[in-house]
Order: sequence, then C-alpha cells, then structure tokens
Amino acid sequence: MTNARSHRSRQAPHSAARIAVYPGSFDPLTNGHVDIITRGSRIFDRIIVALLVNPEKTPLFTLEERLEMAREVFRGEPRVEVEAFEGLLVDYAQRRGAHVIVRGLRAVSDFEYEFQMALMNRRLVASIETVFMMPAEAYTYTSSRIIREIFALGGSISGLVPPAVESHLRRKFAARTNG
Ligand code: PNS
Repeated sequence: MTNARSHRSRQAPHSAARIAVYPGSFDPLTNGHVDIITRGSRIFDRIIVALLVNPEKTPLFTLEERLEMAREVFRGEPRVEVEAFEGLLVDYAQRRGAHVIVRGLRAVSDFEYEFQMALMNRRLVASIETVFMMPAEAYTYTSSRIIREIFALGGSISGLVPPAVESHLRRKFAARTNG
C-alpha cells in the first residue's frame, strides 16, 4: 500500500514543539549569548530568550531597552522569541510549555553556580531539564559585566557584542556624560 493514508500511519506520531527557555539578565546581550541562542535555535523548535525582571538589581539598561536590543538582534528569526519574566523560572517555563532550560557554560568557574541552579530547578519541577551549551571559544571570556566595565572605561568591545548593542551602549554613556 503506497497511498497517502498508509504512509501517514507508518510515520511517528506528531510530537509537540520542543520549546526551550534561555533565561538571564542580558545587561547587555553579548555575542556569547547570541552564539548560544543561535546554537539552541538549531536544536529546538523555539527558544525563548527570557529576560528576568529583578526589582532587587539596578541594571545598566532598563528592561525595555534590553528587550528592544534582543528583539532587534533576532528580528526575522522565527524560532527565537524574546520576552520578560518575573518570579520563579520553572513556573515561567511551565506557563510557556517549555521542558528545557538552556544555560551557557563558558568555563569551569561557571559550573558551581550553574550546577546549584540546575539541581534546584529540578527539585522544584522534575520534568524540566537544564541543558548546558558551550559558546564558541572566542566568547569564553566574555560576560555582560566585563563588557559594561570595558566600555565605561573607554576600551574596545568591537566583535564582542552585536552592532545594535554597541550603539545602545554609546547612546547610554553619551547620555550619562552629557546629562
Ligand atoms: O544572567 P544571570 O543573572 O546569570 O541569570 C540568572 C537567572 C535569571 C537564570 C536566575 O537568577 C533565575 O532563574 N532567576 C529567576 C528566579 C528563580 O527561579 N530563582 C531560582 C533559581 S534556582
């Protein structure tokens, strides 16, 4: 039997979309983050870049600015979505139908903190798995904190952040020095 109906019956049942959440502060988004998101978008049907709303922290960029930068970078990428979240990450992941949390691991020094978070999140919701991904070697020493510091002190961050982020940084520091 080669008709369409018999062909369909031999196929695996249609599985739900594989949705992953990539959470963080992204203050600002770096090329290391972009690298992980791009790699994730090849593995998952959708990767949600989830920006934490943290009232206890005073970030350099407002939530709106961070959302705008990330959306600008991933405009035209149907598998990448950018959204803000507050509260527990696992609750947010469940609301969004995601079974995977993606985190980047740059070096051994990241491990302890990431291990603690992954196990705590698993304790909270056992069905959500944390998947660690390694960025390209060129970004293993890049972090948002170091980008902010180098830029503030006049060093070059060229190639370490997307052009959209670099122009936002310029505007932010120009406004600070003029204001
Ligand atoms: O970019 P960061 O600061 O490393 O990201 C940390 C983040 C957002 C992943 C983490 O702080 C988080 O998940 N916060 C939400 C609150 C929560 O679920 N806390 C328990 C984590 S075990």
